[in-house]
Parts: sequence; structure tokens; C-alpha cells
Amino acid sequence: MSRKLFIAGNWKMNSSAASSVEVAGGMAAQLGSVDAVDLAICPPFVYIPGVVEAFKGSNIGVGAQNMYFEDNGAFTGEISGQMLKDIGCRYVILGHSERRHVLGETDQLINTKIKKALSDGLEIMFCVGELLEERKADQTTAVVTRQVTEGLKDISRDAMSSITIAYEPVWAIGTGETATPEQAQEVHAMTRGLIGELYDSELAQAVRIQYGGSVKPGNAAELLGCPDVDGALVGGASLTVEDFAGIVNSVL
Ligand code: 13P
Repeated sequence: MSRKLFIAGNWKMNSSAASSVEVAGGMAAQLGSVDAVDLAICPPFVYIPGVVEAFKGSNIGVGAQNMYFEDNGAFTGEISGQMLKDIGCRYVILGHSERRHVLGETDQLINTKIKKALSDGLEIMFCVGELLEERKADQTTAVVTRQVTEGLKDISRDAMSSITIAYEPVWAIGTGETATPEQAQEVHAMTRGLIGELYDSELAQAVRIQYGGSVKPGNAAELLGCPDVDGALVGGASLTVEDFAGIVNSVL
């Protein structure tokens, strides 16, 4: 089964009011009419409205990098899924390794957020991935299995059509070190098999699994050419029009 590729940019805590609009405008001009691949950009919260405006009338969606699991109330500093919908977000990234390892998010918290995002009508990029020491200790399968199983606990088969899994080996994020296509393919195939066990093989064949970790114009085609790699979640190389367009164009 061939799945439509989904390439998304995660700007993390980068850009500015001016540069976010400028880069998004450049992406809209160069990539706005691409429809062979699904595209999205996830700016910092405060720059989302400007990017939504810049992408108006284009095929590029906008997402947030996190959300809270309540609608509103006394949660100082948090942003709800409904607020994200309200300003034009289609997507939200949940479970990113930086949220797990820098901000201390657990599998249980991520599961709660995924359920809330689903009820808010957001599409989710659900990130999983092992640390370097876990890979060295041969625990990659165990870690990813736990993250996927716990993160998707009590999530219905129907809801899975709104979820993309992103495999992001932590040792490959922002390091310039990329998983080899073989390493990525191995974990993606394992993850797809796990979805088959948790749900069924039809869903396993339909679910999209992005790879993230130092994806660049020069390595994207090879990684995305793997049979179980259905797109990319791009950090650093999504910050410029040239690099992001280079990645997208390499698979068109
Ligand atoms: P880099 O592409 O900068 O390695 O970041 C990957 C990532 O974490 C995307 O969410």
C-alpha cells in the first residue's frame, strides 16, 4: 500500500515575528500548490497567527508544538487545543523528545494530551524515539514499543486516522547524525507491526510514520525512499525556505 508522504517542519523555539512571516511567505510561494505530499509547519505559539495568514490559500497546514489537556482555566502559561483550533491550527505535535526529556513529560501525560487533541479535532504528530544509551543497550524496540503502546492507550481505531507517528531517535535530533535508511526502516517496520498488533493489519498499512532527526535536502530522498518511512518531521532544515523546499522537491 502506498501512503501519501507527510513532511512537516518543527521550528522548535526559533524564528522571530519578522522571520516567521518571511519564511512562511517564501514557502507558500514555492510549495503552496504542492499536493502530491502533505505539508505542514509548526512555529512557536506566538508566531502561529502570522504563519496561518501567510499560508492562507496554500496547501500548507499549520501546527503547534505542544498543548495542554484542559480547555481553559487556571493553568498559567499553558495553551489549549481549542485555542489552537481557534487560531487556525490543523495539527499539534505531542510527545516530542524535547518535551519528554527536557520538560519531563511522561507517556501517561502524552496519552492524556493525545486524547484531548483528538476531541478538539486536531491532527496529531505523535513522537517516539530512543536515547543513545537505550540504542546502545539494545533497548530501541522495547522503548518505542512502550512509548507507542502507552501513548495510544484507549485510543480507538477510528481516531487513528488523525494520528501520524513520528519516529525520532533522540541521538539523531539536532546532532547532524542521521539514522541510516536501514536503521530507520527497521524501527518503522517494527512500529507498523506493533500497530497491527494493537489494532489490525489494515490500519497498520494505512498509518503514516514519519522519520525525524537531521533530515536534510541531501539525505531526504534516501530516507523517504524506505518502504515504511512515510514522511519526515524536520527541525533545523525547516527554518529556511531553501532547505525545506529542497527536502520536499527531492521526493516530488
Ligand atoms: P532536526 O531535524 O533539527 O534534527 O530536528 C528533528 C526534530 O526534532 C523534529 O521534530
